[in-house]
Amino acid sequence: MTKIDTSKLSWDEWDELQNPPPAVTDFDRVVESAISRRGFLGGVLAFGSAAVALGTLGNLASSTSAQAQEAASRFPFKPVAATTDNTIHVPEGYSWKPVAKWGQPLFPNVPDIDPVKGVSLENSDKVFGENTDGMELFVVGSHQLIAVNHEYVNNETNLPHREKGMPANLDEVKILQHMQGVTVMEVAERNDGWEIVVDSPFNRRIHHNTPMTLSGPAAGSDLVKTKTDPNGIDCLGTFNNCGAGRTPWGTYLTCEENFNGYFGSTDAAFKMPDDYKRYGIAAETRYGYELFDERFDVSKHPNEPRRAGYVVEIDPSNASSTPIKRTALGRIKHENAAVVIARDGRVVVYMGDDERGEFLYKYISNGIYVPGGDTSKLLDEGTLHVAKFNDDGNGEWVALTPESTGMKMDEICVFTRQAASKVGATTMDRPEWVAINPVAIEAYCALTNNTNRGVTKDGKLRANGGGDAMVLNAANPREKNEYGQIVRWYPENDDHADGKFKWDLFCMAGNPNVHKDAYAGSSNINSGNMFNSPDGMMFDSTGLLWIQTDGEDSNDGQYAGQGNNQMLAGDPVTGRIERFLTAPKGSEVTGQTWSADKRTHFVGIQHPDAPFPDGEGKLPRSALIAVKRDDNAMIG
Ligand code: FEO
Ligand code: CA
Ligand code: CA
Ligand code: CA
Repeated sequence: MTKIDTSKLSWDEWDELQNPPPAVTDFDRVVESAISRRGFLGGVLAFGSAAVALGTLGNLASSTSAQAQEAASRFPFKPVAATTDNTIHVPEGYSWKPVAKWGQPLFPNVPDIDPVKGVSLENSDKVFGENTDGMELFVVGSHQLIAVNHEYVNNETNLPHREKGMPANLDEVKILQHMQGVTVMEVAERNDGWEIVVDSPFNRRIHHNTPMTLSGPAAGSDLVKTKTDPNGIDCLGTFNNCGAGRTPWGTYLTCEENFNGYFGSTDAAFKMPDDYKRYGIAAETRYGYELFDERFDVSKHPNEPRRAGYVVEIDPSNASSTPIKRTALGRIKHENAAVVIARDGRVVVYMGDDERGEFLYKYISNGIYVPGGDTSKLLDEGTLHVAKFNDDGNGEWVALTPESTGMKMDEICVFTRQAASKVGATTMDRPEWVAINPVAIEAYCALTNNTNRGVTKDGKLRANGGGDAMVLNAANPREKNEYGQIVRWYPENDDHADGKFKWDLFCMAGNPNVHKDAYAGSSNINSGNMFNSPDGMMFDSTGLLWIQTDGEDSNDGQYAGQGNNQMLAGDPVTGRIERFLTAPKGSEVTGQTWSADKRTHFVGIQHPDAPFPDGEGKLPRSALIAVKRDDNAMIG
């Protein structure tokens, strides 16, 4: 150990020496046990004083040749290199095509978006919305329907004639409101590839003004009653629809994430209720809805933001059905909703709350799912739990009940973050999508990054919005975590309804070209597959994990060699990860689903910088694309 001359230290430095953050050796030990617990990496780490990155081939070389062959056959593609250009790259033998683009008509006699003027108010709820995100494909009779989220709008691109795209009247607010939410559309594969069936009776736009109902414990509560809805049942709109999910009974789950950003105050003297702070509800917004649409002015309708932040259930098979906000699943910045049926038939829903230091949740229904039976209460009556990840590799789900939190049921469902803080949940590095392995009893969550974890220069522990310290822990083991990691858990008794689990890290993203320490990443990360900020994540039906990224794409400094955002495939058994697709500069890869015959992988490309996918001189358009093998073999 290096000797330190303490006489030269400042008070702060001295203080830090007395109360040091976890030492590097300690940290290595904790991470080593977390990451190698299942043994797939052979206990070799890419970081630590003596460890050297082994990488995928190194791991495979130490396996038997039969094992190696089996592992290799899981990746029937030649990985693509990192790219920095303005288009998509897929492996040799694969091709891609756009299916639906921002501003594209969903109904007959609706024009495509005007590159100069944008979309008119009249057509704004009849076209594919902006910023495609989570999606699911449903088969209804002989029809294939895709339900897909439109997370947010770039004001400037939708109101190109306004400075910074700020709306100047209610009509312009409505254009922005209509271009977000959810699209349900029928798609069909023709000779030229997949396209929208514009005359389909299933096509539908759901947006910020669509009537919906609140159900579950918060429905009818005083917390959600407003002047226009004194019963606290009938609300309008779904907001910031990020990730998604599906139920076994054929409905779509759309998840409201950064809903806070739409609600503002026109009255500078208005005192914001205490609960707003935890969710980031503030007087100023980037959309200006509150200036022209009174519903979004919290000084006039303070309960309105408490009617957003939920998982919303939509029946895609009926275009006139009313979406239902399922308050029993909690009010957080919902990323996605991953549904699985427990051993006894109860419905389990895993959900991440995407903000620094927020938590991972699990809902368990009271009733059991019976195919063809009544499913209307399964997402209303049940118990919400929040995860504790212990450093020894064990974990538990803590129930959020009036007994455990001292809060009433409606309060737990509306102020869910506060309830979870009361039971000491583990602060996480921004939980994004949860993916459930269909061929093993395990689930994964992408923890995208968290540059605020750890200790400040003056020795203070950083905290989340509720004041819970973001200490280093084994599941979130790096300070200033720019790269992210993927945590997975194995429910006790092979039952997703069990209150206990074992966990480890599937990978820690990093940059082995730049770092030799923990920031190089785990040993299944190498210079050929590295990435940052895992976010969208789904398993295909064969048990391969498809990882999408929403990170820093400067390809510089800490991120040198990582290129644009991308989609990779990960093998849960070997830990091997290979890059499958690279995206246009500036864009995020988010949302995916498969055609009924599994010969097409649909993928979402959000907010590209430059013209895409129509080529030079055209608009940059968020788009849902179809990826296929040239030999039309199954790919999912
Ligand atoms: Fe909309 Fe957390 O991503
Ligand atoms: Ca996301
Ligand atoms: Ca993200
Ligand atoms: Ca996004």
